[in-house]
Amino acid sequence: MDYFKARVNRRDFKGMIGAAPQNQTDPQIMRILPACWFTGADPQAILAPAKASLHGYPMTAHATTLPKTPTFDLGGRRALVVGASSGIGLGAAVALARAGARVTLGARHLAPLTQLSDALAQEGLRAETCVMDLSDVEDMQDKVRRLGLFDILLNSAGLARHARADLTTPDDFDAVMAVNLRGAYFVTQAVANGLLAAGKPGSLINISSQMGHVGGPERAVYCASKFALEGFTKAMAIDWGAANIRVNTICPTFIRTPLTEPTFADPNSLKWVQEKISLPRTGVVSDVLGAVLYLASDASGMVTGSALMIDGGWTAG
Ligand SMILES: NC(=O)c1ccc[n+]([C@@H]2O[C@H](COP(=O)([O-])OP(=O)(O)OC[C@H]3O[C@@H](n4cnc5c(N)ncnc54)[C@H](OP(=O)(O)O)[C@@H]3O)[C@@H](O)[C@H]2O)c1
Repeated sequence: MDYFKARVNRRDFKGMIGAAPQNQTDPQIMRILPACWFTGADPQAILAPAKASLHGYPMTAHATTLPKTPTFDLGGRRALVVGASSGIGLGAAVALARAGARVTLGARHLAPLTQLSDALAQEGLRAETCVMDLSDVEDMQDKVRRLGLFDILLNSAGLARHARADLTTPDDFDAVMAVNLRGAYFVTQAVANGLLAAGKPGSLINISSQMGHVGGPERAVYCASKFALEGFTKAMAIDWGAANIRVNTICPTFIRTPLTEPTFADPNSLKWVQEKISLPRTGVVSDVLGAVLYLASDASGMVTGSALMIDGGWTAG
């Protein structure tokens, strides 16, 4: 009791109360005051840092060490880009190479891949080519294994065979699923297996679509393939999270590429697209590339199992 009194007497308790803001029911203040009572600590000293910050975030530069800001630098990383010869994949390959990654360009036809690697070489960037077909899983996985370890996968290979759901043929269904789903699944697995065996972290990215989140006319098969892609992304993220292998998708709206040529060429389809996008324009390949660099780099180090929408607001409504 004497000890208690001695401590309390060392400070004027009214002074303690006076140091607190007017609202005495503030739970933070109520937690501080008893401690001051028992220890004789100066409440001003305890409250000052609390007053200088808002919910723990520093308000002054000298109050704390500044946070580390993210880097998009991919120097020293190796990236496999599948579907690199055209459209979004081509743009992604260029973005990854310019960010410092050593890029391997994959697709079924060699000539456009060589053309791209030559164009990159003119910028002083190195890229190797590999002919691969995602619908031939065994051959593709063998090639990925032989190519060695990749820190980054960017799979942009894909196709669409649009038709009303009542007119879908088994051929169209199988062709779309073979690449958009089965091929995507097993190329992601192939790169992950290399990382798992080496005990290394990595970032695996598939180009999905806004159509992996909403339906669209004459797109039942395409939507099914992309919804399934979203599903396996989340499950793989859980399986490989402990190994620090991240798995995410990028979900663009309509972007002008050879794949969407027919949609942009048809005035009715174009009108539909323009009406559905909130922003006042349709997308171009470079709209997708910030997301590619973000997900490939350490800037997204805490992001896995996610879908990054690049849809101009299509799915917001
Ligand atoms: N453009 C859009 O508006 C849009 C919107 C949302 C999502 N996406 C998705 O984004 C991805 C890329 O679309 P894009 O518009 O850039 O298409 P794109 O210009 O037609 O390019 C497709 C790329 O994939 C390759 N490819 C196709 N089948 C392949 C296979 N079986 N194995 C390996 N590579 C194959 C093609 O090269 P080869 O022919 O030489 O194999 C080409 O490099 C697709 O998954 C698509 O579903 C596109």
